[in-house]
Amino acid sequence: MENILKSPFVEEMKKTTANMYRLGWDERNGGNISYMLDEEEVSKYLDINRPIRTIDIGFDAKELIGKIFIVTGTGKYFKNVQDDPENNLGIIKIANDGKTAELLWGYNDGGKFTSELPAHLMSHIARLKVDPQNRVVMHSHPTNTLAMNFVHKLSEKEFTHTLWEMCTECIVVFPDGVGVLPWMLCGTNSIGEATAKKMEEFRLVVWGMHGIYGAGKTMDETFGLIETVEKAAQIYMLTAHLPRVNTITDEQMVELAEYFGVDYRKDFLNL
Ligand code: 13P
Ligand code: ZN
Repeated sequence: MENILKSPFVEEMKKTTANMYRLGWDERNGGNISYMLDEEEVSKYLDINRPIRTIDIGFDAKELIGKIFIVTGTGKYFKNVQDDPENNLGIIKIANDGKTAELLWGYNDGGKFTSELPAHLMSHIARLKVDPQNRVVMHSHPTNTLAMNFVHKLSEKEFTHTLWEMCTECIVVFPDGVGVLPWMLCGTNSIGEATAKKMEEFRLVVWGMHGIYGAGKTMDETFGLIETVEKAAQIYMLTAHLPRVNTITDEQMVELAEYFGVDYRKDFLNL
């Protein structure tokens, strides 16, 4: 067996959590990541049929039976993942009953996966139906996105439109827009179900006054989605209280979307 601490997927988790912490998006234990792994790839490092222990998932994830994920631990700090991946991360396989996770590696101090696992797994199920290549679900508390939640209307159309107006690249990066949920109790199956419903339509979902979820094919794509929203939210927070002298018009957004050939939410523009 090869050394799992040198595997590309552990490396990616280490780098991404460190980046997110460095950017100030994930204070304390804020944020969580789940990354679906290829069975063959994992088998180079682990015996995938020898679970260390089993952990209750708390809902029926039958669509994901046999799937393997590397997931951040609950209560764990992103800032600590890089130096101690075996305590702060875990690799789980969804067992044949769909309701249990088999721990294959990690959570060495007796810990378990993020409390937001329902939102993660339900979002994976929803996104895989839209895009079979989807592998990553990421949750974070980016500062400006969160700040914007307190001063901007939380309607999907208006929130997306404002973000699109803030950076030229926005409509090209997330032409599908941003889904928005009102404030809800986190860590529950209910918020998981609501998030997954939005994920049928969006790769980005704001949790009102809490943070954001992103989903994508790769770690880079998913990180980049959240990063672009956060950049736009930062421009908004830097300018919202100042007189607006210039703006990117809806006609210019159409020009961008057409030039880059993206399928955008036309109903989110005011034309
Ligand atoms: P966990 O520590 O359980 O991952 O929770 C962090 C968080 O961001 C809750 O929404
Ligand atoms: Zn959170």
